[in-house]
Amino acid sequence: MFVCDNLILVGPMGAGKTTIGRLLSQSLGMTFMDSDKVIEERAGANIPWIFDVEGEEGFRRREEQTIDELTQQSGIILATGGGAVTREANRKVLGQRGVVIYLHATVEQQIERTAKDKNRPLLQTANPAEVLNRLFAQRDPLYRELATLIINTDRRSPRSVVNEIIKKL
Ligand code: S3P
Repeated sequence: MFVCDNLILVGPMGAGKTTIGRLLSQSLGMTFMDSDKVIEERAGANIPWIFDVEGEEGFRRREEQTIDELTQQSGIILATGGGAVTREANRKVLGQRGVVIYLHATVEQQIERTAKDKNRPLLQTANPAEVLNRLFAQRDPLYRELATLIINTDRRSPRSVVNEIIKKL
């Protein structure tokens, strides 16, 4: 068992961070938080609107502030957005304030799971597969560097992923 209060989920879009985080929180009796949800609640607007009006930079500023604030609590499970690790400040805070779990999914699975989603501005392009491939190449090393646990989520039920995490904690 890791002696650490918070569990932090990182990984690409479509890895299942929100679904698994919620299920894990029920199993462990911890409080679940999703940084994207908190950003939206605080902005009073959804993520596509924030990207539209403030650009990705505006979203990243909000994300950094939200992650810093949320991780000052203890006993939480935090699902982060797929791009949180691109900021050094976030990597520092996440690494220091929780056990980081990388939910890994192949690009093929990411594509399948995000295909119908309109809430991810970075994928609203003619070729989302190309975007997911490019982001994964940039971010996979960052997720790996930060993570204590790396869990494969490909073609698995959320319950089986959660059981594996609990066994390894
Ligand atoms: C992003 C991932 C999204 C959200 C935003 C940007 C990214 O979160 O934060 O659309 O840069 O990969 P999910 O990973 O929960 O989809």
